Parts: sequence; C-alpha cells; structure tokens
Amino acid sequence: MVEATPEEAAVDATAGGVTLERLQAPVSIGGLRLPNRAILAPLAGVTDIPFRRLCNDMGAGYAFVEMLSATAIRYRARRTLEMMRRHDKEARLGVQLTGGSAGEIAEAIAFLDTQGFDSIDINMGCPVRKIVRKGWGSALLLNPAGVREIVERAREATRLPLSVKIRVGYDADCINVAETAACIAEAGAVMLTIHGRTRNERYGAPVRYDCIAEGFRQARKAARPPVCVGNGNVLDRPSALQMLRETHCDAVMISRGVLGNPWIFRELLGTRPHNPTLQEWLEGVLQHLAYHREHYGDNRMAAVVARKHLIWYMRGFRGSRAMREKLSVVESLDDARDLFRRFASEHPPDAVRFEAEQAPAHDEDPSAAMDREHDRPLADDHEPDR
Ligand SMILES: Cc1cc2nc3c(=O)[nH]c(=O)nc-3n(C[C@H](O)[C@H](O)[C@H](O)COP(=O)(O)O)c2cc1C
Repeated sequence: MVEATPEEAAVDATAGGVTLERLQAPVSIGGLRLPNRAILAPLAGVTDIPFRRLCNDMGAGYAFVEMLSATAIRYRARRTLEMMRRHDKEARLGVQLTGGSAGEIAEAIAFLDTQGFDSIDINMGCPVRKIVRKGWGSALLLNPAGVREIVERAREATRLPLSVKIRVGYDADCINVAETAACIAEAGAVMLTIHGRTRNERYGAPVRYDCIAEGFRQARKAARPPVCVGNGNVLDRPSALQMLRETHCDAVMISRGVLGNPWIFRELLGTRPHNPTLQEWLEGVLQHLAYHREHYGDNRMAAVVARKHLIWYMRGFRGSRAMREKLSVVESLDDARDLFRRFASEHPPDAVRFEAEQAPAHDEDPSAAMDREHDRPLADDHEPDR
C-alpha cells in the first residue's frame, strides 16, 4: 500500500468540512500517482485520443480508454486494438473492459497488462441491453460472489493497479452496493467507482448519494481500502461538492458533465470560474479540432466523428440553432473551424454561454448507440486480424 503523503493526509483530516479544494490534492491508486482527484470517465464514442488530450490540457487527473469487450480483445479485433492506442503526450492512461466469466476477463487483462496502460478498470455498470443479455456489465452485479471471483482472478492476471466501476445495484429490488463494494475491496481492487443509479435507472434518475456512501463505508472496512470515486451528475461546482459531502468520496468521476464542457476540470479544480470566456471557449474548441485533425486527418469521416462534440459545444448559447444545424451537416474540420471563428467574431467577448449559473443537466443517454455498437456483425469487429 502506498503511504499517504503529508499533503494527502492533510486533505483526509478535513473530511468533516469538505471543500472543493479536496479535489486538487494528489492521490495514489496502487503505485500510480494522480495529480488531482477529478477523473474523466471512460465514455464510449467520446473519450478518444483527441478528447482525452483536450481534457488533460484542462487539468483532468486521469483518463480512460472507453469500455472494450473481452471477446474483442481475445480475437484482437482490429477496431479494438485501434481504440487502445495512446498518444505520446498522454502522461497517464487507464483502460476499461467488460466481459462475462472470470476466466475470460482474466485472459483479456493479461493481454491489456502488456499494452502500456497505467491501470485497468473492470466495468460492472454498463446498462446496455446487448451487454447485459450476455451477462456482462451491470448484469455482473446480480452475483456478488461472482464479482469477488472476477476481481481475484483479475488481480492475479496483472501487476497494474486494478479498479472496478459499478452501479448501486441492478434494480430497485437488488440494491446490493454494500455487499458488492465489500467483495471488490476485499478482493484487492485499488479503486472503486460507484455510479449512484441502478441498471434500470440508466442515466435519468436522481443520484442515490446515500447508497454510494454505504458502498464506500463497506469498502473501507477492507484491509487495504480502495480509493473511492463518486460518479453521477457531477456537472459543476455545486454538484461536485454535493458528491464529496454526501458520499465522502476521495475523488469524483465526470461523465456527461464533460460533454461539450471540458472546461469543467478548470472549474472543479478552482483554476477558472464556472463559464469560460468566449475567447477561452473558442480556443478550447479550436484545440479540439486541431487534435482531432492530427488523429483522424481532415476528411468527411473525421467531420462526421466530430459532429456530436461540435454540437455539444453550442449548448448554453442563446440563438445557436442555425449554428447547430450547420454543424450537424459539416463536411470538413476546416469548415467547422471557420464556422466557430465566425460565430465568436459575431458575439461580444463577454457573451455568456450559460445564462444561469448552473449548466443544465445533460440528457444524453448512450444506450441506443451502444446497443447498435455491440450488435455489430462478427466480420466488422470481432474478426481476428489475419
Ligand atoms: C456517451 C456515454 C458513454 C458512456 N460510456 C461508458 C463507458 O464506456 N464505460 C463506463 O463505465 N461508463 C460509461 N458511461 C457511463 C458514465 O461513465 C457514467 O457512469 C454515467 O453517465 C453517470 O454519470 P453522469 O450522470 O455524470 O453522466 C457512458 C455514459 C455516456 C453518457
């Protein structure tokens, strides 16, 4: 177990009177030291290299490759190997996977162990129909003894820090976060993220802070307690503070709060106020476009992949419908860059992005897109490379 530094110990000592400064303190997961406690979630279809680089620039303490399938790893599926790429400028990077049996997960982890990641996370929270039907993702929560076995076998398969991300339970009849969290901690995970909703609540329901807190309480009884990470509706300073205060988490994981708002890391880490200025916003968007071009080139496909981000960047601006319509059909990154420059030049430098202090909650629900993704025919994704 890595000893807490004096700085970390000082933060722990203030747990009663929680402030957001807590997020600025470094934290160690296993042997891996994170510079702060604001973590970018693995987000399918979102956390590719360009977006991770942008979030790192904004201060993210850690980032993950989106969830990969253990089966696709077994077959060394081309698309999955592509998703595992890491940019030289990414100082720290975790990877997440899901699978069904302890053996299959351990096998995938043994491979991931050799691929240059800093840690490995097991997803036990994904609600997507195609995943759950296979007994993966949040379906694993139905069997806490199975969860323990998965984590134990996974620990044996890697020397990297191992973490797990769960929900508070499968449905209202199975809110078993206390038992699951205890199993995961006792089995040796060094970080535990709890998303405060059940599988059936998907993304829209209020966050069950009390259940997250109970999960962390049980996990901390283990001989080597994991770093406890709260997840769900961390959208801005007040919601991050609420997560810290109500769950006593050590860190927060940001998911929908980052869509169109990578500046959230600056906000939570206290380096900038809630809203970026128009100039900061433009610089961020143009930087994302530059990273995107470096990774994907400038072509129609690259523009199509970027579109959702570009439309999210317009959230909060009054009268942005015309701009969103143009971005939804934009055919090149150059065209997108010109549209953003023009938009910024037509607005006063003190134009406010979100009129209200608080950014509205994102209603993004990736289930349908992820269902489609996991419904790919074998030939497209799961075919071994020849
Ligand atoms: C677009 C999108 C993609 C997601 N992909 C993943 C994923 O690959 N792995 C994962 O553990 N969670 C994934 N999630 C779930 C989030 O990490 C998070 O647990 C959930 O959205 C709740 O947090 P929020 O209310 O702050 O969004 C995804 C969520 C969204 C919106």
